[in-house]
Amino acid sequence: MRMYDIIQKKRDGEALTEAEIRWFIDGYVKGEIPDYQAAALCMAIYFRGMNLEETSALTFAVRDSGERLDFSDIKGLRVDKHSTGGVGDKTSLVVAPIVASLGVKVAKMSGRGLGHTGGTIDKLESIDGFKTDIPVEEFKGIVNDIGIAIVGQNAELAPADKLLYALRDVTATVDSLPLIVSSIMGKKLAADDDCIVLDVKTGSGSFMKTPEKSRELAEWMVEIGKRAGKRMRALITDMDRPLGNAIGNSLEVIEAINTLKGEGPADLTELCIALAAHILELAEKGTYQECEEMAKKAISSGIALQTFANMAKAQGGNAEWILRPENFPKAKYSYTVKAQESGYIVGVDTESYGVASLLLGAGRNTKEDVIDPTAGIYLLAKTGDRVEIGTPIATLYSGKESGFAAAEERLLKATRISSQKPKDEPLILDVVE
Ligand code: URA
Repeated sequence: MRMYDIIQKKRDGEALTEAEIRWFIDGYVKGEIPDYQAAALCMAIYFRGMNLEETSALTFAVRDSGERLDFSDIKGLRVDKHSTGGVGDKTSLVVAPIVASLGVKVAKMSGRGLGHTGGTIDKLESIDGFKTDIPVEEFKGIVNDIGIAIVGQNAELAPADKLLYALRDVTATVDSLPLIVSSIMGKKLAADDDCIVLDVKTGSGSFMKTPEKSRELAEWMVEIGKRAGKRMRALITDMDRPLGNAIGNSLEVIEAINTLKGEGPADLTELCIALAAHILELAEKGTYQECEEMAKKAISSGIALQTFANMAKAQGGNAEWILRPENFPKAKYSYTVKAQESGYIVGVDTESYGVASLLLGAGRNTKEDVIDPTAGIYLLAKTGDRVEIGTPIATLYSGKESGFAAAEERLLKATRISSQKPKDEPLILDVVE
């Protein structure tokens, strides 16, 4: 086979065979195919797309490009939850302890922040001492002992995705449906869980900006997961506004802890209960309504919060910080952003909110950047709220004052204010079975 012929075939809109796709992935991981040819193929896929069969073949090739984990020595049903990426999305920190406290095993591998979106691993590392780089055997031992562990992606897992993602990031080919499906599901399927619930985001803060595109993404991921023998479900959820009020690592952990105490923002609580109930239903713990009640009770009884504290302790973290979040260090500087006009907040550009948080130090501009765990934004007004000129709409937090002006400018530009009250939009748009 020749890479030139494969690029040409896709460029001309033809479907690639499974053998061609596997040959490409294999050669790219071995370093036999140069980046410029892989980039040309990604761009051809971006413009020409791939059908479900090709996308499925690409996903399985990515899955098989490295080590495949064996979780069979973890006793009980193993579940995973994955979000396609959003702003203020701390649901894993709430949902995983809820479902683990109810007897399903959570052996979760999560990622770091990507572009304007945050990552669970960066958030967990804002907890004093919390280790996310744990050898697989120890990780499985923790899951067997306390029911839950969340660690970073194993370096040997789906190496094709690591290479392709870095390439897509710099060649404007991230937001391509077959490339996103194969990236997410290739990694998920290389781990060894029985049930996977996907939170597919839609709107201005997500990679897929329209509900139609997000639905297609959800359907393909569910279908491919089922082909690999997994129990699958996907929720399509709104990312036209940040989730909850906190954006930034320790701010989000504190908000997750408050949600586990039953004191979280309404939108975050609603989505976490729904995700937990869908996971529990897939794991055959009861009907959806029964699972929803179980999830609510895990919060009101305090058992879900205690499970989070147990996980923190098992992973070397200071569990006291979970039970008493006032222990988290505060940012050195803060700054209040005020509304410049009166009216209702009718919409926001969520991606810009994510970038504003990044400018304060909560994310990375380059892979080498070190995150400031205390940096971020706490929203005091959100879409639908009435504000007057001078009403505080957000507090910015950072270890340096130099980022405040740019973050404020972005935030104000990204916040649309009008005299008409907007209509309430649902948070959960659809469920794909
Ligand atoms: N998250 C991933 O892991 N991959 C993508 O392509 C997009 C979001």
